[in-house]
Amino acid sequence: MIIIETRKRMQEYMREKKQNGLTIGFVPTMGFLHEGHVSLMRRASQECDIVVTSIFVNPLQFGPSEDLDRYPRDFERDQKIARENGTDILFYPSNEEMYPNDAGTKLVVTKRTEVLCGEKRPGHFDGVVTVLTKLFHIIQPDRAYFGQKDAQQVAVVDDLIRSYFFPVKLITCPTVREEDGLAKSSRNVNLNEKEKAIAPKLFEALTIASDKAKKGATVSEVRQDMLDQMNGLEYGKIDYVELLSYPELEIVDSFGQKTIIAVAYRFENARLIDNIIIEAVR
Ligand code: PAF
Repeated sequence: MIIIETRKRMQEYMREKKQNGLTIGFVPTMGFLHEGHVSLMRRASQECDIVVTSIFVNPLQFGPSEDLDRYPRDFERDQKIARENGTDILFYPSNEEMYPNDAGTKLVVTKRTEVLCGEKRPGHFDGVVTVLTKLFHIIQPDRAYFGQKDAQQVAVVDDLIRSYFFPVKLITCPTVREEDGLAKSSRNVNLNEKEKAIAPKLFEALTIASDKAKKGATVSEVRQDMLDQMNGLEYGKIDYVELLSYPELEIVDSFGQKTIIAVAYRFENARLIDNIIIEAVR
């Protein structure tokens, strides 16, 4: 595995690989890699000739009162994980490389962001698509790999790729979970012991909710049931519980279409998200 820190070197390197007809798989990350990222790197290495993983904690996607400073970082550990799981090139740019002082353009997302994290974290997805556009230009991937845990991000990136005609195939991989059901996330490290014991209840509530939906409960019954389960928890508080069509992310009044049941929950130093997507129930 080689580590590249500048966009110039990265662009030169990728140009050469593309000229040789090699397919490029791209795993964009903000580091502090976990088994969710590992599943993306492994899938990319099965499907592509070269795997590029990027590590960049993107300041543009954090709001002023969010956890940019607390976001966990460990580049030594990340290098090892990336190397052992199929990454050929680790792209590790600085803030100055990604946001040169003389550049002042950013993208704005106008669809699929009025709800869920888009509503709760204004500007977050503008930051995500801006950095991904830069990364797609630098790396020129054929396939880009994302986890379903960030389902709204997947829906927004799907729209970005279609809106800007990127020749990139979006691959969504299943959420990787701890044995107790908690979705793997870099932010889990910021949970205290008591919160760690409660956090798996998010997935438990989602599983119960999706079973109820499949058995004929209405959208409002399922939502209320989720709220009741989560309101009863000892620590933290609900940020949202929503049921929406997927990937359009529009309000639904039945389960007659593919539907996401999504939750965000705030603990003291970590805001966790999770979801289940269910196929149309007729
Ligand atoms: O999912 C993430 O880790 C980030 O949002 C991404 C896609 C790397 C963009 O900064």
